[in-house]
Amino acid sequence: MKKLAVYPGSFDPITNGHLDIIERAAALFDMVIVAILNNSSKNSLFTVAERKAQIAQLIKKFKNVKVDSFDGLLADYMAKTKANACVRGLRAVTDLEYEFSLANINQKLNPKMETIFFMPSEENTYLSSSVVKEVYSFGGELKQSVPPLIDKALKKKFKN
Ligand code: PNS
Repeated sequence: MKKLAVYPGSFDPITNGHLDIIERAAALFDMVIVAILNNSSKNSLFTVAERKAQIAQLIKKFKNVKVDSFDGLLADYMAKTKANACVRGLRAVTDLEYEFSLANINQKLNPKMETIFFMPSEENTYLSSSVVKEVYSFGGELKQSVPPLIDKALKKKFKN
């Protein structure tokens, strides 16, 4: 039976840290769906359509990775897609509390749902979309932390 993983998140924007996790998950699962949360209450920099297009470009090199978006509960999306596991990245110990509570709530909502944590490589340990956005918003750049197309998109967004 094919093993399907869902990698959910905001991906606003996707960073090299996310791509690191995607690569690790793609090596272990038959199929990985990168699932963007469509959250209208969250103030996002990029629209879901923009994020979907960015991710679609970046995952072209993986034969077994797809991008999708979802509304509502992740536990329901997991059941709908019949995914075997939810993949999340665990960077430093500071992620632990939030990730454990998320996994625990999801387990209550959908007892069949497993959450699997992947550790990124060291250079991506302190990388987050929020830090990236803050740096670019002040005119800085983090070319080592985001793919070139995201670097370009961030510069364009903050120029406007
Ligand atoms: O990249 P993020 O913002 O840390 O991802 C968080 C995400 C999207 C995985 C989480 O907010 C989520 O699953 N939201 C969907 C709503 C939900 O299922 N909430 C219940 C768990 S508290």
